[in-house]
Amino acid sequence: MSAGSHGVNAAEITAQLQQMRADLSVTGFLQGYEDSISNLLIHKDTKVICQGFTGKAGTFHAQEALDYGTQMVGGVSPKKAGQTHLGLPVFGSVKEAVRETKPDASVIYVPPTIAVDAILEAIENEIGLIVCVAEGIPEADQIKIVHALRSQSKSRFLGPNCPGIINPLGCKIGIQPGHIHRPGNIGIVSRSGTLSYESAAQITGVGLGQSVCIGIGGDPFPGTHHIDALKVLLNDPNTKGIVLVGEIGGFMEEEAAEYILEHRRFPNLNHKPIVGFIAGKTAPSERRMGHAGAFITRGKGFASNKISALSRAGVIVVDSPSKIGSEMLKAMRLRTDNV
Ligand SMILES: CC(C)(COP(=O)(O)OP(=O)(O)OC[C@H]1O[C@@H](n2cnc3c(N)ncnc32)[C@H](O)[C@@H]1OP(=O)(O)O)[C@@H](O)C(=O)NCCC(=O)NCCS
Repeated sequence: MSAGSHGVNAAEITAQLQQMRADLSVTGFLQGYEDSISNLLIHKDTKVICQGFTGKAGTFHAQEALDYGTQMVGGVSPKKAGQTHLGLPVFGSVKEAVRETKPDASVIYVPPTIAVDAILEAIENEIGLIVCVAEGIPEADQIKIVHALRSQSKSRFLGPNCPGIINPLGCKIGIQPGHIHRPGNIGIVSRSGTLSYESAAQITGVGLGQSVCIGIGGDPFPGTHHIDALKVLLNDPNTKGIVLVGEIGGFMEEEAAEYILEHRRFPNLNHKPIVGFIAGKTAPSERRMGHAGAFITRGKGFASNKISALSRAGVIVVDSPSKIGSEMLKAMRLRTDNV
């Protein structure tokens, strides 16, 4: 794919992202898990390994990632160490892969019942960004993962049950359909995989493009919340507008709304339009809706509360996902600075 054809200078943006990651990371203090949010700023030079590389999904999606231009540098598959797969080395452990390839990120295609081991192995080996696509990881395992994440500051975890993360300049870490994306200035963060694709396709369709699309996943204990992605996107100079897709369950969207409100108190930072959509307006209480985390329970997690909180924070909340692209285009046209 040619980034140049969309008038985006890939080399300049990559250099900016690398600098921003360094600025965000070098805090002088070890702050804990929060310190890893800058690892979400993937770029075309991000080096990626794949755990579960030789399995069905690993093979298919690693090949797709390579075709997209992603810097895949190898994979891990304990039973197949020493082999070559898709032209890349297969390692017996993450430790070995790190020693030999020094990756920035790992994408994990290991089945849900045993994925916890692969995720903890990636955390132990301080992989900067760990993406897990698996759906159905037991909640007890998810809690174990959250505990491990909170005890360190090197690894950022995206997922589980997420499509991954993509920078259309040529880095695809996950299962997204690459062709619907195009380089541009809109950052997308979504709990739903399907709605992140829908948003990306509309943003591309109206002639805009994406800086980065972050799928945070639909499980009850995600490694990255909306607020984490917003902290990165609101500060990223390559992101000029943001799409935020939430859904019923939990209070992640309310937490994001509070952060936006706080952020907008500083007038000079107040110029990135945010278009939001909350799925599940008609969902009944006490019934899981699709995602394990999409669950209204004990009077909490209603779409209406999330919509009110985001609207109060100045987010343009649309009542149908079909309006995400057109509303973003309208908002971007109102911007006075050069987009
Ligand atoms: C994760 C998932 C994709 C894996 O499925 P799969 O590719 O069919 O699984 P496979 O059994 O073929 O492959 C798993 C591989 O991991 C390997 N593996 C197991 N444990 C491992 C570990 N700790 N480290 C590395 N590899 C490991 C296996 O050996 C196997 O490789 P092999 O077949 O070469 O032996 C699937 O379980 C899943 O969750 N699918 C749903 C994804 C989804 O839709 N998510 C929502 C997105 S919005």
